[in-house]
Amino acid sequence: MERKPRASHMFANARPRRAGSARGGRNKPAPIPLPAPVPTDSKGLVLDLKQILDAAELKTIKSAKKLVFHTVGDTGGVRDGAAQQTLIAEAMEADFGADTSERPAFFYHLGDVVYYNSEPENYERQYFRPYQYYPASIVAIPGNHDSSPSTADTPGDLNQFMKVFCARKPQPLVADFDRTSMIQPYVYFTLEAPFVKIIGLYSNNGEGPGLLDPDGNKAQLAFLEAEFTRAAKARPGDSRAVVVAVHHPLFSIGKDHGSSPTMLDQVDQLMEDTGLIPDAFLSGHVHGFELFIREYKGHEIPYVICGTGGYNDDAHVKDSSMRLPAQFENGFSLAQFFDFQYGYMRITVDENWLTGEYVGVGKRQANALPQSGVLESFNVDLKKHLVSSF
Ligand SMILES: [Fe+2]
Repeated sequence: MERKPRASHMFANARPRRAGSARGGRNKPAPIPLPAPVPTDSKGLVLDLKQILDAAELKTIKSAKKLVFHTVGDTGGVRDGAAQQTLIAEAMEADFGADTSERPAFFYHLGDVVYYNSEPENYERQYFRPYQYYPASIVAIPGNHDSSPSTADTPGDLNQFMKVFCARKPQPLVADFDRTSMIQPYVYFTLEAPFVKIIGLYSNNGEGPGLLDPDGNKAQLAFLEAEFTRAAKARPGDSRAVVVAVHHPLFSIGKDHGSSPTMLDQVDQLMEDTGLIPDAFLSGHVHGFELFIREYKGHEIPYVICGTGGYNDDAHVKDSSMRLPAQFENGFSLAQFFDFQYGYMRITVDENWLTGEYVGVGKRQANALPQSGVLESFNVDLKKHLVSSF
């Protein structure tokens, strides 16, 4: 049952309604339309790492022959004044040590930057302040919370997300914080970097499943097809890893935040049509960590969910008696999962390997469950298309 906001009096404000609280059935919100103008050509939807990284750092990556980056989603710490999110940000900052070849080049945010509805005033507390000391660029794909509220009749929009992440030029946005707007070309885009190409998608505003073609608009699917085709044609000369990032997981054991079968079918169809089999999939949305290794046409592909960046929620999975690895349909095998856990991922890519490490971050309250340190690692052999996890 929907909770009514408390009546205001001189000491209390009305509690903001949670996005999604009225979802389902007749109250299902309208999907968010793709922001106008919707690009008609995928060529412009590229962000090159050199646009957002110092030349000296790019040189270090090239001479070290490897690229390191951070990734995690669901960071917006709306419930605790971003205290836990800040602890995670501090742990990420600690990865910027003296060895410059190990420094992450950027943070790829997997969506749900600000809860609950991308309110401009909440960006300061849930984004600019927690990452004020994070010493690298942050790029993002929007999650279901990164749009203004949508009702059954009136769709919301992505205006605030666009302002922060898809500006034409870096602009200061919040006084006292140096981080400017990011210059992504659109809400879905390809990040071209040494050793890796990351194709980022927008899976809309539902709690689930995710949606790539709101109101039947196929522009994003056309973008994905064009990018898969481009990557397939460039191989084997361009042997960089191809990673797909999408907020809603294509497959999950999450109870409240589950799979997106239509998106899985759509992406599988494009893999089939173009011949491009990505080397890894990254998602958030589920507030836990799940590592699936999928067998697909002779390839092993990791489908990773990492939605533990700071949002406080105990809406967790799962069947704690599940034995690993656990087999599911469509070739998915669950290699690892963590419930009631905070943390982020560190990904390292070179010519031959993509390595993912899930780094746990302890809870600010004393509690035995959350653990710190590297809790899970996996290696993708980019030539043989085999995955090992340990
Ligand atoms: Fe989400």
